[in-house]
Amino acid sequence: MNFFIDTADIDEIRAAYEMGLVDGVTTNPTLIKKAGKDHEKTIREISALVPGPISVETLSETAEGMLEEAREYVTWGNNIVIKIVMTAEGMKAVRALSEQGVKTNVTVTFSPLQALVAAKAGATYISPFVGRLDDIGHVGMDVISQIRTIYDQYDFETQILVASVRHLTHVLESALMGADVVTVPGKVLMQMLNHPLTDKGIATFLQDAKQWQKEPA
Ligand code: E4P
Repeated sequence: MNFFIDTADIDEIRAAYEMGLVDGVTTNPTLIKKAGKDHEKTIREISALVPGPISVETLSETAEGMLEEAREYVTWGNNIVIKIVMTAEGMKAVRALSEQGVKTNVTVTFSPLQALVAAKAGATYISPFVGRLDDIGHVGMDVISQIRTIYDQYDFETQILVASVRHLTHVLESALMGADVVTVPGKVLMQMLNHPLTDKGIATFLQDAKQWQKEPA
């Protein structure tokens, strides 16, 4: 299972990368805006730091425009994945990029049928937004389970990239359901390390070790 980090904040990426927790990075226009730096400069910096796939989102509404953006984005690093929204024009662009051997990530998706369409178009990744489904009273993770069943049944190679992750249960269920990748905000990634019994156990060991530890000079 791969962990991607869902941020464009280079310090946050570096901190998680140094712990071996970053196999790739996903960005979107909102995350780039939040990071507050130039788009190209930010992506180049991330791409130089993390060797794994870096998703960069196109903004055009036509396949032609998306392909033009893709041609530019792939010059920003050797690990760029072109993020494309789930529209008819988007699927045209995904098919063309797939034929050119360029990796794609189909984004802003919410249903297993959209995942089936993306796989047919030749997408490398499908990004279902589980948190946004939960926000409107659905169970986002049900979609992941359904996509897993469909992809396995027909041996699709498209990887399930669980996106819009809000909390640890999304990460745990992604692992249990066999999602290929989960893209996690830095804060949630760090929460994975925590357990109250770990804190208590470490405190007890340190306390007991004081019996023989010398006072620092
Ligand atoms: C990542 O690829 C998505 O763009 C991101 O996870 C969306 O998350 P949000 O629903 O928290 O904006």
